[in-house]
Amino acid sequence: MKQQNGDWLAIFKENDGVKHGLPAQAYTSDEFWQRECEKLFPETWVFAGFVHELAKTGDVSPINVAGRPLLLVRSPSGEIKTFHNVCRHRCLKLVDAPGNVGKLIRCPYHAWAYDLNGSLRASPYFGGNDDKVPEGFEPKENGLVPVRTAIWHDWIFVNLSGTAREFEEYAAPLVARLEGIDFEKIEPVSTIDFGEVRTNWKFLIENFIEPYHVQFVHATTTDQPLVEHYTVVDGVCMGSAIDVSEKTAAEAGCGTLAVSSRYLTLFPNFIVGRYFPDQLGVHLNIPMGPDRTHQKRVIYTTEGQTLSDDEIQALTTLWHDVHKEDHEMCERLQAGRASDVAAGGGVLSPYWEDSVRLFQEHIVAGTDLN
Ligand code: FES
Ligand SMILES: [Fe+2]
Repeated sequence: MKQQNGDWLAIFKENDGVKHGLPAQAYTSDEFWQRECEKLFPETWVFAGFVHELAKTGDVSPINVAGRPLLLVRSPSGEIKTFHNVCRHRCLKLVDAPGNVGKLIRCPYHAWAYDLNGSLRASPYFGGNDDKVPEGFEPKENGLVPVRTAIWHDWIFVNLSGTAREFEEYAAPLVARLEGIDFEKIEPVSTIDFGEVRTNWKFLIENFIEPYHVQFVHATTTDQPLVEHYTVVDGVCMGSAIDVSEKTAAEAGCGTLAVSSRYLTLFPNFIVGRYFPDQLGVHLNIPMGPDRTHQKRVIYTTEGQTLSDDEIQALTTLWHDVHKEDHEMCERLQAGRASDVAAGGGVLSPYWEDSVRLFQEHIVAGTDLN
Protein backbone atom coordinates (compact mmCIF):
# COMPACT_ATOMS: atom_id res chain seq x y z
CA MET A 1 0.00 0.00 0.00
CA LYS A 2 1.27 3.44 -0.91
CA GLN A 3 0.88 4.83 2.60
CA GLN A 4 3.73 2.56 3.67
CA ASN A 5 6.24 4.04 1.22
CA GLY A 6 5.51 7.59 2.26
CA ASP A 7 4.18 9.15 -0.95
CA TRP A 8 0.50 8.39 -0.62
CA LEU A 9 -0.25 11.91 0.61
CA ALA A 10 1.77 13.76 -2.02
CA ILE A 11 -1.26 15.03 -3.93
CA PHE A 12 -3.11 15.94 -0.73
CA LYS A 13 -0.16 18.03 0.40
CA GLU A 14 0.32 19.90 -2.88
CA ASN A 15 0.18 23.59 -2.19
CA ASP A 16 -0.26 25.18 -5.59
CA GLY A 17 -3.72 25.48 -7.06
CA VAL A 18 -6.92 24.06 -5.68
CA LYS A 19 -6.39 21.56 -2.86
CA HIS A 20 -7.15 17.87 -3.19
CA GLY A 21 -9.14 15.71 -0.82
CA LEU A 22 -7.84 12.63 0.98
CA PRO A 23 -6.81 9.75 -1.27
CA ALA A 24 -9.38 6.99 -1.72
CA GLN A 25 -7.59 4.53 0.51
CA ALA A 26 -8.32 6.71 3.56
CA TYR A 27 -11.96 5.65 3.03
CA THR A 28 -11.55 2.11 1.79
CA SER A 29 -8.49 0.36 3.14
CA ASP A 30 -8.45 -1.92 6.16
CA GLU A 31 -4.98 -0.65 7.01
CA PHE A 32 -6.19 2.93 7.29
CA TRP A 33 -9.20 1.84 9.34
CA GLN A 34 -6.89 -0.06 11.68
CA ARG A 35 -4.76 3.05 12.02
CA GLU A 36 -7.81 5.10 12.97
CA CYS A 37 -8.77 2.46 15.56
CA GLU A 38 -5.28 2.18 17.01
CA LYS A 39 -4.23 5.80 16.96
CA LEU A 40 -6.79 8.43 15.99
CA PHE A 41 -9.87 7.42 18.02
CA PRO A 42 -8.10 6.19 21.19
CA GLU A 43 -6.14 9.39 21.67
CA THR A 44 -9.05 11.80 21.45
CA TRP A 45 -12.59 12.22 22.81
CA VAL A 46 -15.02 10.09 20.84
CA PHE A 47 -18.77 10.71 21.08
CA ALA A 48 -20.31 7.47 22.31
CA GLY A 49 -23.91 7.86 23.51
CA PHE A 50 -26.80 9.76 25.09
CA VAL A 51 -27.29 10.16 28.84
CA HIS A 52 -31.10 10.08 28.53
CA GLU A 53 -30.91 6.55 27.15
CA LEU A 54 -29.56 5.40 30.55
CA ALA A 55 -32.23 6.86 32.77
CA LYS A 56 -32.30 4.40 35.69
CA THR A 57 -29.72 2.79 37.97
CA GLY A 58 -28.66 -0.48 36.36
CA ASP A 59 -29.37 0.65 32.80
CA VAL A 60 -26.59 -0.53 30.51
CA SER A 61 -25.83 0.03 26.86
CA PRO A 62 -23.21 -1.84 24.85
CA ILE A 63 -21.41 0.41 22.38
CA ASN A 64 -18.59 0.16 19.90
CA VAL A 65 -15.74 2.65 19.91
CA ALA A 66 -12.70 2.23 17.66
CA GLY A 67 -13.75 -1.35 16.96
CA ARG A 68 -13.80 -2.19 20.66
CA PRO A 69 -16.77 -3.37 22.73
CA LEU A 70 -17.49 -0.91 25.56
CA LEU A 71 -20.34 -0.73 28.07
CA LEU A 72 -22.12 2.37 29.36
CA VAL A 73 -23.57 1.90 32.85
CA ARG A 74 -25.78 4.05 35.09
CA SER A 75 -24.26 3.48 38.53
CA PRO A 76 -26.02 3.71 41.92
CA SER A 77 -24.54 7.17 42.51
CA GLY A 78 -26.21 8.34 39.29
CA GLU A 79 -22.95 8.63 37.40
CA ILE A 80 -22.58 7.25 33.90
CA LYS A 81 -19.56 4.97 33.80
CA THR A 82 -17.87 3.30 30.88
CA PHE A 83 -16.08 -0.05 31.02
CA HIS A 84 -14.53 -2.36 28.51
CA ASN A 85 -17.46 -4.71 27.84
CA VAL A 86 -15.39 -7.79 28.44
CA CYS A 87 -15.51 -10.40 31.19
CA ARG A 88 -12.24 -10.73 33.09
CA HIS A 89 -12.48 -14.54 33.09
CA ARG A 90 -12.24 -15.59 29.43
CA CYS A 91 -12.83 -12.15 27.90
CA LEU A 92 -16.32 -12.86 26.61
CA LYS A 93 -18.25 -9.82 25.43
CA LEU A 94 -20.29 -9.29 28.55
CA VAL A 95 -23.47 -7.47 27.52
CA ASP A 96 -24.88 -7.64 24.01
CA ALA A 97 -28.11 -5.66 24.25
CA PRO A 98 -29.24 -2.50 26.06
CA GLY A 99 -31.44 -3.02 29.11
CA ASN A 100 -31.50 -2.96 32.89
CA VAL A 101 -29.29 -5.48 34.71
CA GLY A 102 -30.49 -4.70 38.24
CA LYS A 103 -27.58 -4.61 40.68
CA LEU A 104 -25.15 -6.95 38.93
CA ILE A 105 -23.72 -7.41 35.50
CA ARG A 106 -23.56 -11.17 35.10
CA CYS A 107 -21.49 -12.97 32.54
CA PRO A 108 -23.66 -15.59 30.82
CA TYR A 109 -20.77 -18.03 30.37
CA HIS A 110 -19.59 -19.00 33.89
CA ALA A 111 -21.66 -16.56 35.96
CA TRP A 112 -18.98 -14.17 37.11
CA ALA A 113 -20.78 -11.08 38.36
CA TYR A 114 -19.73 -7.43 38.63
CA ASP A 115 -21.46 -4.63 40.46
CA LEU A 116 -22.40 -1.39 38.74
CA ASN A 117 -19.10 0.17 39.76
CA GLY A 118 -17.27 -2.63 37.98
CA SER A 119 -16.05 -4.58 41.05
CA LEU A 120 -15.98 -8.36 40.72
CA ARG A 121 -18.55 -9.69 43.22
CA ALA A 122 -18.76 -13.37 42.32
CA SER A 123 -16.65 -15.92 40.48
CA PRO A 124 -18.47 -19.13 41.44
CA TYR A 125 -16.46 -22.38 41.67
CA PHE A 126 -13.42 -20.68 40.15
CA GLY A 127 -11.23 -22.32 42.83
CA GLY A 128 -12.95 -25.71 42.65
CA ASN A 129 -16.03 -27.28 44.12
CA ASP A 130 -15.73 -25.59 47.51
CA ASP A 131 -15.73 -22.15 45.86
CA LYS A 132 -12.33 -21.20 47.29
CA VAL A 133 -10.53 -18.28 45.74
CA PRO A 134 -7.52 -19.80 43.98
CA GLU A 135 -4.15 -18.82 45.26
CA GLY A 136 -2.71 -15.90 43.38
CA PHE A 137 -6.09 -14.67 42.16
CA GLU A 138 -7.13 -11.25 43.43
CA PRO A 139 -10.83 -10.48 42.87
CA LYS A 140 -10.07 -6.79 43.50
CA GLU A 141 -7.74 -6.76 40.51
CA ASN A 142 -10.22 -8.45 38.25
CA GLY A 143 -13.01 -5.92 38.06
CA LEU A 144 -14.26 -4.43 34.82
CA VAL A 145 -11.67 -2.18 33.23
CA PRO A 146 -12.85 1.45 33.26
CA VAL A 147 -12.61 3.91 30.38
CA ARG A 148 -12.17 7.64 30.87
CA THR A 149 -15.54 9.32 30.36
CA ALA A 150 -16.76 12.89 30.05
CA ILE A 151 -20.40 13.93 30.24
CA TRP A 152 -21.47 17.15 28.54
CA HIS A 153 -25.18 17.71 29.04
CA ASP A 154 -26.89 14.74 27.30
CA TRP A 155 -23.76 13.54 25.55
CA ILE A 156 -21.25 10.91 26.58
CA PHE A 157 -17.66 11.03 25.34
CA VAL A 158 -14.93 8.49 25.94
CA ASN A 159 -11.15 8.67 25.72
CA LEU A 160 -9.66 5.19 25.45
CA SER A 161 -6.03 6.18 26.02
CA GLY A 162 -6.84 8.25 29.11
CA THR A 163 -4.35 10.86 27.95
CA ALA A 164 -6.43 13.33 25.90
CA ARG A 165 -6.69 16.94 27.04
CA GLU A 166 -9.44 17.72 29.56
CA PHE A 167 -12.76 17.54 27.73
CA GLU A 168 -13.80 21.09 28.69
CA GLU A 169 -10.65 22.46 27.14
CA TYR A 170 -10.99 20.25 24.06
CA ALA A 171 -14.61 21.21 23.43
CA ALA A 172 -14.18 24.94 24.06
CA PRO A 173 -14.36 26.08 20.38
CA LEU A 174 -17.67 24.26 19.95
CA VAL A 175 -19.12 25.35 23.27
CA ALA A 176 -18.39 28.98 22.42
CA ARG A 177 -20.54 28.66 19.29
CA LEU A 178 -23.54 27.36 21.21
CA GLU A 179 -23.80 30.39 23.45
CA GLY A 180 -27.27 31.45 24.43
CA ILE A 181 -28.61 27.92 24.79
CA ASP A 182 -29.94 27.07 28.24
CA PHE A 183 -28.81 23.44 28.34
CA GLU A 184 -30.86 22.85 31.48
CA LYS A 185 -33.92 23.17 29.27
CA ILE A 186 -32.97 20.86 26.40
CA GLU A 187 -35.36 17.97 25.99
CA PRO A 188 -35.06 15.01 23.59
CA VAL A 189 -38.33 14.67 21.67
CA SER A 190 -37.53 12.12 18.99
CA THR A 191 -34.81 9.63 18.01
CA ILE A 192 -34.21 8.36 14.50
CA ASP A 193 -31.98 5.29 14.34
CA PHE A 194 -30.79 4.87 10.77
CA GLY A 195 -28.83 1.70 11.49
CA GLU A 196 -25.77 1.19 9.34
CA VAL A 197 -25.12 3.51 6.42
CA ARG A 198 -22.88 1.99 3.76
CA THR A 199 -20.25 4.69 3.84
CA ASN A 200 -17.06 5.61 5.62
CA TRP A 201 -17.76 7.69 8.74
CA LYS A 202 -15.65 10.57 7.39
CA PHE A 203 -18.02 11.14 4.47
CA LEU A 204 -20.95 11.69 6.86
CA ILE A 205 -18.96 14.31 8.77
CA GLU A 206 -17.56 15.99 5.64
CA ASN A 207 -21.03 16.15 4.14
CA PHE A 208 -22.39 17.82 7.26
CA ILE A 209 -19.74 20.53 7.41
CA GLU A 210 -19.91 21.77 3.83
CA PRO A 211 -22.85 23.90 2.74
CA TYR A 212 -22.09 23.47 -0.96
CA HIS A 213 -24.46 20.52 -1.53
CA VAL A 214 -27.44 21.81 0.41
CA GLN A 215 -29.32 23.62 -2.32
CA PHE A 216 -28.82 20.75 -4.77
CA VAL A 217 -29.34 17.68 -2.59
CA HIS A 218 -31.99 19.14 -0.31
CA ALA A 219 -33.89 21.11 -2.93
CA THR A 220 -37.27 19.86 -1.73
CA THR A 221 -36.60 19.57 2.00
CA THR A 222 -34.88 22.90 2.64
CA ASP A 223 -35.02 26.51 1.50
CA GLN A 224 -31.51 27.58 2.38
CA PRO A 225 -29.74 29.41 -0.46
CA LEU A 226 -26.02 28.77 -0.85
CA VAL A 227 -25.13 32.45 -0.82
CA GLU A 228 -26.48 32.88 2.69
CA HIS A 229 -24.14 30.18 4.06
CA TYR A 230 -20.59 30.41 5.35
CA THR A 231 -18.15 27.86 6.76
CA VAL A 232 -16.84 27.48 10.31
CA VAL A 233 -13.16 26.60 10.58
CA ASP A 234 -11.93 26.74 14.16
CA GLY A 235 -9.53 24.05 15.39
CA VAL A 236 -11.46 20.91 16.31
CA CYS A 237 -14.77 22.67 15.62
CA MET A 238 -15.65 22.64 11.95
CA GLY A 239 -18.92 23.29 10.24
CA SER A 240 -21.10 25.64 8.33
CA ALA A 241 -23.76 28.16 9.17
CA ILE A 242 -26.52 30.15 7.59
CA ASP A 243 -28.20 33.34 8.61
CA VAL A 244 -31.46 33.16 6.70
CA SER A 245 -32.65 36.48 5.35
CA GLU A 246 -36.19 37.67 5.98
CA LYS A 247 -36.83 37.42 2.26
CA THR A 248 -35.81 33.74 2.15
CA ALA A 249 -37.84 32.93 5.24
CA ALA A 250 -40.89 34.66 3.79
CA GLU A 251 -40.59 32.82 0.48
CA ALA A 252 -39.91 29.38 2.00
CA GLY A 253 -42.18 26.48 1.17
CA CYS A 254 -44.39 24.88 3.78
CA GLY A 255 -42.75 21.98 5.68
CA THR A 256 -39.23 22.81 4.54
CA LEU A 257 -36.32 24.00 6.62
CA ALA A 258 -35.65 27.74 6.27
CA VAL A 259 -34.25 29.02 9.55
CA SER A 260 -30.89 30.40 10.64
CA SER A 261 -28.81 27.36 11.49
CA ARG A 262 -25.43 26.24 12.77
CA TYR A 263 -24.03 22.92 11.54
CA LEU A 264 -21.18 22.18 13.90
CA THR A 265 -18.90 19.29 14.76
CA LEU A 266 -16.39 18.39 17.41
CA PHE A 267 -13.65 16.28 15.91
CA PRO A 268 -13.86 13.44 15.26
CA ASN A 269 -17.52 12.32 15.32
CA PHE A 270 -19.80 14.65 17.29
CA ILE A 271 -22.35 16.53 15.20
CA VAL A 272 -24.77 19.14 16.47
CA GLY A 273 -27.17 21.19 14.38
CA ARG A 274 -28.68 24.27 15.96
CA TYR A 275 -31.86 25.56 14.35
CA PHE A 276 -33.05 28.92 15.54
CA PRO A 277 -34.98 29.70 17.59
CA ASP A 278 -35.51 26.54 19.61
CA GLN A 279 -34.24 23.25 18.17
CA LEU A 280 -31.10 21.10 18.27
CA GLY A 281 -30.24 17.90 16.45
CA VAL A 282 -27.35 15.68 17.55
CA HIS A 283 -26.02 12.87 15.39
CA LEU A 284 -24.20 9.89 16.83
CA ASN A 285 -21.93 8.53 14.13
CA ILE A 286 -20.33 5.24 15.11
CA PRO A 287 -17.57 4.16 12.74
CA MET A 288 -17.98 0.38 12.31
CA GLY A 289 -15.49 -0.35 9.53
CA PRO A 290 -14.00 1.30 6.45
CA ASP A 291 -17.37 1.33 4.68
CA ARG A 292 -19.96 1.15 7.46
CA THR A 293 -21.19 3.76 9.92
CA HIS A 294 -24.07 3.46 12.38
CA GLN A 295 -25.98 6.74 12.60
CA LYS A 296 -28.61 7.98 14.98
CA ARG A 297 -30.18 11.43 15.31
CA VAL A 298 -31.81 12.83 18.43
CA ILE A 299 -34.02 15.89 18.03
CA TYR A 300 -34.16 18.27 21.01
CA THR A 301 -36.23 21.27 21.92
CA THR A 302 -34.28 24.01 23.71
CA GLU A 303 -36.94 26.21 25.27
CA GLY A 304 -39.01 23.63 27.11
CA GLN A 305 -41.79 24.12 24.58
CA THR A 306 -44.46 21.47 24.28
CA LEU A 307 -44.86 19.92 20.85
CA SER A 308 -47.93 18.01 19.75
CA ASP A 309 -47.57 14.45 18.46
CA ASP A 310 -48.23 15.77 14.96
CA GLU A 311 -45.48 18.37 15.29
CA ILE A 312 -43.03 15.75 16.54
CA GLN A 313 -44.00 13.43 13.69
CA ALA A 314 -43.52 16.22 11.14
CA LEU A 315 -40.08 17.04 12.53
CA THR A 316 -39.09 13.38 12.55
CA THR A 317 -40.23 12.93 8.95
CA LEU A 318 -38.40 16.08 7.81
CA TRP A 319 -35.12 15.01 9.40
CA HIS A 320 -35.49 11.42 8.26
CA ASP A 321 -35.87 12.65 4.68
CA VAL A 322 -32.96 15.10 4.92
CA HIS A 323 -30.66 12.37 6.27
CA LYS A 324 -31.74 9.92 3.57
CA GLU A 325 -30.81 12.49 0.93
CA ASP A 326 -27.38 12.85 2.54
CA HIS A 327 -26.94 9.08 2.93
CA GLU A 328 -27.46 8.55 -0.78
CA MET A 329 -24.69 11.04 -1.58
CA CYS A 330 -22.34 9.59 1.05
CA GLU A 331 -22.91 6.05 -0.22
CA ARG A 332 -22.10 7.26 -3.73
CA LEU A 333 -18.97 9.03 -2.46
CA GLN A 334 -17.95 5.66 -1.07
CA ALA A 335 -18.80 3.84 -4.32
CA GLY A 336 -16.73 6.37 -6.28
CA ARG A 337 -13.66 5.45 -4.23
CA ALA A 338 -13.44 2.13 -6.11
CA SER A 339 -12.35 4.11 -9.17
CA ASP A 340 -8.71 4.83 -9.97
CA VAL A 341 -9.81 8.42 -10.58
CA ALA A 342 -10.45 8.79 -6.83
CA ALA A 343 -6.83 8.01 -5.94
CA GLY A 344 -6.13 11.75 -6.11
CA GLY A 345 -9.00 12.57 -3.75
CA GLY A 346 -10.90 14.93 -6.04
CA VAL A 347 -10.72 18.69 -5.46
CA LEU A 348 -12.13 20.91 -2.73
CA SER A 349 -13.73 24.33 -3.12
CA PRO A 350 -11.45 26.78 -1.31
CA TYR A 351 -14.55 28.74 -0.37
CA TRP A 352 -17.21 26.15 0.56
CA GLU A 353 -15.07 23.17 1.53
CA ASP A 354 -12.26 24.69 3.61
CA SER A 355 -14.03 23.07 6.57
CA VAL A 356 -13.69 19.67 4.87
CA ARG A 357 -10.04 20.33 4.22
CA LEU A 358 -9.36 21.14 7.89
CA PHE A 359 -11.22 17.97 8.94
CA GLN A 360 -9.03 15.94 6.60
CA GLU A 361 -5.89 17.59 7.95
CA HIS A 362 -6.97 16.51 11.45
CA ILE A 363 -7.37 12.97 10.11
CA VAL A 364 -3.85 12.98 8.70
CA ALA A 365 -2.41 14.41 11.93
CA GLY A 366 -4.46 12.04 14.12
CA THR A 367 -3.39 8.93 12.27
CA ASP A 368 0.20 10.14 12.38
CA LEU A 369 0.82 9.13 8.78
CA ASN A 370 2.26 12.48 7.75
S1 FES B 1 -16.09 -15.80 30.42
FE1 FES B 1 -17.26 -14.69 31.82
S2 FES B 1 -17.52 -16.02 33.44
FE2 FES B 1 -16.32 -17.14 32.07
FE1 LIG C 1 -26.99 17.57 3.66
